[in-house]
Amino acid sequence: MLHSAAVTAGFRQTAPPLAARTRAEAASPAAPILLSPPHLTGQELPQLQAMFEAGWLAPAGPFPRAFEDAIAAAIGLPHVLATASGTAALHLGYRLLGVAPGDEVWTTTLTFAATIAPAVELGATPRFFDVDPATGLLDLDLLRDELAAAARRGRLPRVVVPVDLYGSPVDIAALREICDPWGVPILSDSAEALGSRIDGRHAGFGAKLIALSFNGNKIVTAGGGGALAGEDARLIEQARRLANHAREDAAHYEHAQTGYAYGLSSALAAIGLAQIATLAARVAARRAVFARYRAALADLPGLSFLAEPRGAIANRWLTVIRLCPRAGAPGRELLRRRLAAAGIETRPVFKPLHLQPAFRHAPQAGGAQAAMLFEEGLCLPSGSALTREEQARVIEAIRAAFARG
Ligand SMILES: Cc1ncc(COP(=O)(O)O)c(C=O)c1O
Repeated sequence: MLHSAAVTAGFRQTAPPLAARTRAEAASPAAPILLSPPHLTGQELPQLQAMFEAGWLAPAGPFPRAFEDAIAAAIGLPHVLATASGTAALHLGYRLLGVAPGDEVWTTTLTFAATIAPAVELGATPRFFDVDPATGLLDLDLLRDELAAAARRGRLPRVVVPVDLYGSPVDIAALREICDPWGVPILSDSAEALGSRIDGRHAGFGAKLIALSFNGNKIVTAGGGGALAGEDARLIEQARRLANHAREDAAHYEHAQTGYAYGLSSALAAIGLAQIATLAARVAARRAVFARYRAALADLPGLSFLAEPRGAIANRWLTVIRLCPRAGAPGRELLRRRLAAAGIETRPVFKPLHLQPAFRHAPQAGGAQAAMLFEEGLCLPSGSALTREEQARVIEAIRAAFARG
């Protein structure tokens, strides 16, 4: 029997309740330092309590709507749909922009696979573009040339997808100057860039559609979730319908097309509501983490930081260092392993998509800069709850690894 006294007693003896166990682990001096763990505010429980009292749990009702309003206010865009994940938001975006078999979708090679996976699911062929080595963002000069060449061939992409890598916002105004003459829409993957700004606007502003993520490692998390946002009310309403199984307005189940179950549950929306209220403080905290790393590490030979794009105030979701062994730095993998041995979690910069087995047949435009960033780039612990003591431990471990060579 599952709940027999023996089983319950045995469980108590070997395992204290989960919350107490994780609190005890976090308080221990040798506690692992994580890359970007969820940062709870204390307001999640009251919001969840309010949700239960209101009697809502489904992906409908006042909590998802209130979360959408809060997202809209945070990013300065009028129309927002809260979704089950950032990947779901991207999938809806691709569907709304008409991505279908035979289409090309162009994006940066230096990103997470979820940027392009939904387009591939819709039958599109991805084409991966190299990046500006200073920022790690889509190389706009390369894109300009390739768009002109594609227009000459009469084979323009269905959509261009810039990615705000590690929170650094792409200059959408500059990208629009390149894409607008050819009538190619932009879907901005701003999953990592909530709170980042460029030229006074939120990351992704000016794109036809913007996708955000609230998964567990993001600056604001609901545990899972995402959003699709834009200026076109009609597009977001279409997305809302598709996200609810493409149900038509009828008492019975009526479907003119097929859709998805992509709504955000009220429970996650309630958590997201508590979290998003802290966005400004979190951007400031992550920027302060970056500033401390830079002040403490900039003198090390062969170590540099990914640059902030011109006109941007990035959320610095993750601080990224670049290690050049020819200039005296330890290799990225050596440093990663030394830090792991000291209980410090880091992660290599994304392995470029053109090098991933899943995309081995996809066309590409360059890729050498992204490949170098993968070889040399390492993401450091950057959470908004990272304490000064923890960060000092990371800094000390990095300096020790440089000293050891
Ligand atoms: C660049 C990028 N795109 C898309 C996603 C997908 O978001 P989610 O995990 O919410 O589906 C993520 C985050 O995981 C991401 O970092």
